Amino acid sequence: MSVTHTYTLANGYKIPVVGFGTWQSKDGEEAYNSVKWALESGYRHIDTAEAYGNEDSIGRAIKDSGIARKDLFITTKLWGTNSYEEASAALEKSLKDLQVDYVDLFLIHWPNPKAFRPDFVTRNANIWKAMEDGVKAGKVHSIGVSNFHERHLLPLLEVAEIKPVVNQILVNPSDQQLGIVEFNKAHDILTEAYSPLGTGKIFGVKELQDLAKKYGKSVAQIVLNWQLEKGYLPLPKSIHAERIAQNVDIFDFKLEAGDVEQIDGLHGKAGLAKNPDEVDF
Ligand code: A2P
Repeated sequence: MSVTHTYTLANGYKIPVVGFGTWQSKDGEEAYNSVKWALESGYRHIDTAEAYGNEDSIGRAIKDSGIARKDLFITTKLWGTNSYEEASAALEKSLKDLQVDYVDLFLIHWPNPKAFRPDFVTRNANIWKAMEDGVKAGKVHSIGVSNFHERHLLPLLEVAEIKPVVNQILVNPSDQQLGIVEFNKAHDILTEAYSPLGTGKIFGVKELQDLAKKYGKSVAQIVLNWQLEKGYLPLPKSIHAERIAQNVDIFDFKLEAGDVEQIDGLHGKAGLAKNPDEVDF
């Protein structure tokens, strides 16, 4: 396996097994340089979102790289949209900011932002229709969701003409969200793991530090290797060149079964995922 090795989505499209995360990478130099370094390190899968506010910088870094569009996998997400029209307009804006004719993957970022929470089922059905039309118009290859639990996915699956092929959720040793992962699997939905390093909190876990010593690897490399071992698709984020490179130098070792089990058992050691129904946004 390598950074360009792929999983195959339920619709046949291929997706590189590690993506580059850009949540909390500031627009401007920071996002531009981190994506530039990621592409130089071999990443071909870049994950962003309208809500990250950095699509413009990422678009420039991608363009300046000179890498052929067909060799890249680009994901973005919809945030504050509540209607077919708003979702269609958001897609156009993302395409423009990213300077691309299509995105590989387009996700509903949050199942029920607070403003739309009482009516989230109708809201998601309406914006899904716009996303499906994006697929039919060739502006999107695959569509999916993010932060969805079973109770959010079930009503969407009932109305979806084109099925979601990805659910991007927080997954790391401290919260594996196994209920959602199992539901995804049962519906041919690939689980993408955001905050694979617990947004940095994972580095303080003693058991992982010990495993890092045992294998002569960094904690990040241990955790990302474990993510692949479990069949997840991690989206590590960093704004430092050497860490960006380190986070894809993860394919030359295999964790022993007992060590995989030990990592499986680290629930709650470095924070938990938010419940989408309870957040204040
Ligand atoms: P930075 O961006 O300053 O390099 P996650 O991917 O779970 O969101 O975690 C991202 C956090 O972990 C960021 O704070 C990032 O810091 C840090 N990080 C990413 N890769 C590494 C690494 N290889 N070693 C140490 N810290 C890292």
